[in-house]
Amino acid sequence: MDYSTRISERMWNLPDKGELESKREQTFIDDIVQKNHIERELLEHLDGVHTVFDGGAGCGRFSILLARQGLQVTHFDISRPMINKAQELAEAAGVLDRITFVQGALEDLSAYADRSFDLVISFDAPVSYTYPQQEKTIRELVRIAKKRIMLSVSSRLGALPYLANPIQKNQFILDRNSPDGWVQWCLDSREQMIRDFAFRKEPLMETLKTGLMGDMEEARAAYDRGEAPWSITYHFMPDELERILAANGVRDISLAGPGAFARTIPNEILVKIMNDPAQKKDFLDFCYRYDRNPYVCGMGKDNLFARGEIA
Ligand SMILES: C[S@@+](CC[C@H](N)C(=O)[O-])C[C@H]1O[C@@H](n2cnc3c(N)ncnc32)[C@H](O)[C@@H]1O
Repeated sequence: MDYSTRISERMWNLPDKGELESKREQTFIDDIVQKNHIERELLEHLDGVHTVFDGGAGCGRFSILLARQGLQVTHFDISRPMINKAQELAEAAGVLDRITFVQGALEDLSAYADRSFDLVISFDAPVSYTYPQQEKTIRELVRIAKKRIMLSVSSRLGALPYLANPIQKNQFILDRNSPDGWVQWCLDSREQMIRDFAFRKEPLMETLKTGLMGDMEEARAAYDRGEAPWSITYHFMPDELERILAANGVRDISLAGPGAFARTIPNEILVKIMNDPAQKKDFLDFCYRYDRNPYVCGMGKDNLFARGEIA
């Protein structure tokens, strides 16, 4: 297992990860938009699908959704706290018997034969956490898929505005009273962040060029001290993701950038929309339409989404 996988594994195995990740859509509006987009894509593309592999399935947001549709799902994740939370939620949803839980790293899918699953999915960037093996991971995910693949990976064009704006997460806070430490940190540090802010071109140019977020040397040193630093993640360009999928035999590829529209709207307006069920429904309908436009797909808030058919 290489260093970056070990760093990622330690971070995702922090004990409170499952609990926090399962509350994302109650806490942050960008998560509502992104997960809603993926849910719609999934439910519209289940023809001929009976079996699913969900790689980096987390606390089961999509594995449970698909099990509820009557599908047989393999829920695969590197994190025990995530899997524990997913098992608890699957039991509450009455679908435990349709989900097989496997703890493992996407860097090694050798246990699965070619074309083992009708549908292979991996959402909210697990592939990006497999850096430097992200291309091999995509190749392996395609290999075990029989009919269709859907991925969302970290987006380079989408992440750069985030990197340049230390208070961007504040735009998406839905519940200002959430006990999530991240929310309170965003609220408490906002003024300080603005005071200390200076635009620095160099790190942006570097990420634009390399697609890498995070400093490997710093992360290694923190890991060696026993800490759980944020892992090094690889951010894809849209044409690059399309090229990798096509080179592995995926056809009819569609790209989308969930969150591209929402990121143009300030927090006060987003919160008003989210707190009115009729407006929220119309807004999410519109986002789903707008964010699938290929000209904005790179500007998805965190993720670049791709769907394609296996040749
Ligand atoms: C942001 S969560 C997304 C969860 C879920 N797919 C969703 O969309 O709600 C990322 C997940 O990827 C998992 N992960 C990260 N690196 C991984 C790896 N190398 N192999 C397998 N899972 C990994 C984490 O444990 C975490 O559950």
